Amino acid sequence: MKPIKVGLLGLGTVGTGVVRIVENHQHDLLSQSGSPIEIAKILVQNKNKTRNISVSSDILTENPWDVVENPEIDVIVEVMGGIELSKKLILTALDHGKHIVTANKDLMALHGPEILARAAEKRCDVFYEASVAGGIPIIRTLVEGFTSDRITKIMGIVNGTTNYILTKMSQEGAAYEDVLKEAQQLGYAEADPTSDVEGFDAARKMTILSTLGFRANVALSDVEVRGISKVSKEDIAYGKRLGYEVKLLGIAERQDDAISISVQPTMVKHSHPLASVNGVFNAVYVYGEAVGETMFYGPGAGEMPTATSVVADLVAVVRNLNLGINGRRGFVPYKEKKLKTDEQ
Ligand code: NAP
Ligand code: HSE
Repeated sequence: MKPIKVGLLGLGTVGTGVVRIVENHQHDLLSQSGSPIEIAKILVQNKNKTRNISVSSDILTENPWDVVENPEIDVIVEVMGGIELSKKLILTALDHGKHIVTANKDLMALHGPEILARAAEKRCDVFYEASVAGGIPIIRTLVEGFTSDRITKIMGIVNGTTNYILTKMSQEGAAYEDVLKEAQQLGYAEADPTSDVEGFDAARKMTILSTLGFRANVALSDVEVRGISKVSKEDIAYGKRLGYEVKLLGIAERQDDAISISVQPTMVKHSHPLASVNGVFNAVYVYGEAVGETMFYGPGAGEMPTATSVVADLVAVVRNLNLGINGRRGFVPYKEKKLKTDEQ
């Protein structure tokens, strides 16, 4: 059976998890997708770096064009991060007819519409489940699970690093800087952790969730953002005494044709389920007019949870390839329209 060949852009925390799952779950992936999956090329910055996974040096490359323009490769999995280079590589890969899986929320929140439009033109798939809430299949749920409903509120803890920091500060009285370092060592934080602690990463994720959940064209600039860098141990202890936990909450609400979206440290009552979401775990609360309240919970960052979502997307692309339906499904908002925000 002819394998589907994958070009992996990046072999860091997430890329390593992707290689592990593709190697260790080969049989399941074949039965789920209908084809063997082979990682044929891997782009890295430095081929000579010591890695905690062994891959054949023949498939490592420092030349991105060797991957995205390679005629043998069917699918590109982008887990390198950054915006300008990854956008250029993904658009080039689409121009070469390759399908895309990406974990890059920065890219999808800023340039999602352009990438999805190019993909539609080229009849290619773009899946990006891992871009929000790591191992929780929240994007699939919003796109496919609520088609019968009208979502009016999406609220959640969507950044693992800050939740890890706030939990350790609350439960152990740990110092902010020490826990941030730990989150970096565990592979939870972004290359520049300012994105995590200042709330930008959560804002990007809320942009993606609101776009898909509200079936609207939401811009990152619509989100009001405040991070946790100014939250002190004293604030957390004071909240606790009053019966609250401090959480970095993203809140997106829709009323008729107007939306408001914010990310900010919020006092959450101990009795609320979001107050007991601890460590690197994320949770997303979704309110639909018909279904009422729902909540989705799971690990929000880290090697294997994130790679689980990436490889699930890869299986979806390969299934579509085998069914001959690429470009007709993927995570695209059904209807794109601009909703009014507070500033308008
Ligand atoms: P990472 O550990 O920093 O890995 C990045 C990888 O990309 C490295 O292998 C690096 O090569 C390679 N790379 C970076 N810039 C490159 C360039 N200019 N040319 C060639 N190779 C380049 O990052 P990560 O934590 O895996 O995150 C990757 C993406 O997944 C990001 O978009 C991130 O936001 C997203 N994400 C991460 C998590 C998580 O828990 N970590 C969760 C969800 C989504 P070298 O190895 O040679 O340095
Ligand atoms: N830095 C991100 C977080 C990675 O901590 O949530 C997962 O998107």
